[in-house]
Formats: sequence, structure tokens, C-alpha cells
Amino acid sequence: MTTPSGPVTWVVVSAAPPAVRIHELLAQLRTDPRLVVVATTPTAASWIDEAQVRPFTAWPVRSTPRSHDEPKIHPEPNLVVAAPLTFNTINKWAAGINDNPALNVLNEALGARIPIIAAPVTNAALAAHPAFARSLDILASAGVRLTTTNAIVSASPTDPYNWQPVLDLIREGTHTAYIDKCAHPSRQHLARTRRSGHRSEHKNSKRPLR
Ligand SMILES: Cc1cc2nc3c(=O)[nH]c(=O)nc-3n(C[C@H](O)[C@H](O)[C@H](O)COP(=O)(O)O)c2cc1C
Repeated sequence: MTTPSGPVTWVVVSAAPPAVRIHELLAQLRTDPRLVVVATTPTAASWIDEAQVRPFTAWPVRSTPRSHDEPKIHPEPNLVVAAPLTFNTINKWAAGINDNPALNVLNEALGARIPIIAAPVTNAALAAHPAFARSLDILASAGVRLTTTNAIVSASPTDPYNWQPVLDLIREGTHTAYIDKCAHPSRQHLARTRRSGHRSEHKNSKRPLR
């Protein structure tokens, strides 16, 4: 397949409820399907109806690991949008764990300094776990543009998901300054913490959660 000129967006989906309506975000990207790739965690793969995703991406959904002799067929990303992003995947990503295709996209994009936008979704109990704020801090420090936690979840469970905060970050421009030039961000974060003796504040750490 020929890929038209233009930025390629990868949408990375993990298993929080907005995943089942990811086709709504894909529709709102208003992008040529050849410029959109979807990757999911194994759990999210079982939540998504591929038939609903299919009109918005010309590429097979990447939900299983590539085998050792399988060629790369998907175009390389120019922008990665992680939405929704679970507690589990946030913590694994910040720690550099790479045990599924979605994490592989996120980790490689971070290392390659490809612009990344992420929309965390989690409940109040998990958000209060100390690892959560630490992970968001690591990712934000590495240049990931985060919506506030649960920004895409509407106030009422019957309302549609609100993809606007993600679209706003996409439209705002994704040329974030990546602060360090080398090493995985978890190590950069540790180094900075040791140097400064304190942890930086992040907007997500103060937001009240539903
Ligand atoms: C109905 C349901 C709703 C869930 N909602 C959330 C959520 O909003 N945020 C979250 O972090 N995990 C949520 N979880 C838990 C995740 O699905 C679970 O931690 C899973 O292992 C995440 O896997 P992944 O990060 O690899 O996609 C939910 C689970 C279920 C069954």
C-alpha cells in the first residue's frame, strides 16, 4: 500500500472504558485512513470492535507481537496518541516495561522523541497509588503531553466520551521540547530527583478524581 504524504498518527489503546468507543476519536481525527494506525494492549484488543475501527485505518490493528520473521508493514509514526491510557499501562510505560505491542509503540516513540499525547483514565483508588503520580511525572518530564486524568470521561456515564482534550493537544501542535537527549526517562527522572532532592509537581497530581 502506498502511504500518502502527511503525518502518520498511531493511536494506542489500553483497557479502560473509552477504548470501546475509540472509533469516535478516530472519526474526529478526520485523517486519511492510510495515515492512521491503531495499536492495542492485549486486554484492549478484546474490548474493541474491529469492525467499528476499520473505516478509519487502512492498516491491520496491531494487537499481537510481531513474529521474528514478520516484516514491518505499518508506516512509522510522526505522532502517537495514547487514549485511553490505563493505570497499568502508564506505570509499565514509565518503568520502561515493553511486554506488549502497545507498550512497544509507546516506549519506542518516547526513545525516538516522537511527539506523544496521552489521556490517562483511572479510578480514584488507583490514582491515589503512589506509583501513579510518579509515573505521570516521569512521562511529563520526558515530553509526553498529558490531558488531565479522566479528561475524556464525561460527568455522566450516559454521556458520550469527550475526546476534545485530546484533539486540542493534537491541534495545539506537538512539538514538545524533550528535555533530555539520552537514556530512558525513568533513569533521567531518578537522576534529576537525586540532583534536586525533590520531585516536581505535575498538574495531574492535584486534580480531583471522580
Ligand atoms: C469494566 C472495567 C473497567 C475498567 N476501567 C479501568 C479504568 O478506567 N482505568 C484503569 O486504569 N483500569 C481499568 N480497568 C482495569 C484494566 O482493564 C486492567 O488493569 C487491565 O489489566 C489493563 O490492561 P492494559 O493496561 O494492558 O490495557 C477496568 C477493568 C474493567 C473490567
